[in-house]
Amino acid sequence: MTKDRATILETQALSARYGRIEALHAVDLDVGAGELVAVLGPNGAGKSTLLRSIMGLTDSSGTVRFEGEPLPRRDPVAVARRGVVLVPEGRGIFGPMTVAENLQLGAYLIGGRGPAFDQRLERVLTLFPRLKERLDQAAGSMSGGEQQMLAVGRALMAEPRLLMLDEPSLGLAPQVTAEILQTLASLNRGGLSVVLVEQKAPLALQIAARAYVVAGGTITARLDPREITSHDQLARYYFT
Ligand SMILES: Nc1ncnc2c1ncn2[C@@H]1O[C@H](COP(=O)(O)OP(=O)(O)OP(=O)(O)O)[C@@H](O)[C@H]1O
Ligand SMILES: [Mg+2]
Repeated sequence: MTKDRATILETQALSARYGRIEALHAVDLDVGAGELVAVLGPNGAGKSTLLRSIMGLTDSSGTVRFEGEPLPRRDPVAVARRGVVLVPEGRGIFGPMTVAENLQLGAYLIGGRGPAFDQRLERVLTLFPRLKERLDQAAGSMSGGEQQMLAVGRALMAEPRLLMLDEPSLGLAPQVTAEILQTLASLNRGGLSVVLVEQKAPLALQIAARAYVVAGGTITARLDPREITSHDQLARYYFT
């Protein structure tokens, strides 16, 4: 990380287990304020467990600091209120509810329909015009890409300072994926710090300032995307 940037998120020796399986082992990761960091790695690497441990959605040991202060453990709502919001794997939207209702739920985390609600909603709908046209539609009846946009939009309604996304491209067509990643890049240019978990490494590396590779529950490489010039080079990190 460049030294002139403050650290917004830092994990130290973060470990998590499911019964006898240690899914995450002693992970040290940091994210600079305003930085977009990618987390890459194969299936079962521990990427989701890493995000869930930061959010307090699963038991973990080690420390997680956000803006210099430890984050509460096993209290995801408190973590979100501190400004760390997760767009989970599989999106986690409420299918029978409308798009508007899903967006309102995102805002409830930080106190519901306060005076800033309309402004935030307007910003999200400007970012994702397709949601604006579908406010009264059941969320579950939208296309996969639109549902992912809603998941990101709902997270933004909670006013994160750090947005974490777990494989937002899963199951989406390349065109829609590109659209969503470009939106993330633009949010990041506006100052939002982002942790992007992605298996589609070449896509994530196009917009990330730095990347970590996770495999077998540990960080196996720290990458500068500018140094990755070929798929072969990238593959080495996955299979060594
Ligand atoms: N609830 C659970 N109970 C038991 N084991 C789990 C649980 N969740 C994950 N694991 C195990 O922990 C390891 C890491 O899983 P995790 O979901 O974090 O990987 P991942 O990198 O996100 O994979 P993917 O790319 O497939 O989403 C895997 O071996 C997985 O089987
Ligand atoms: Mg996962």
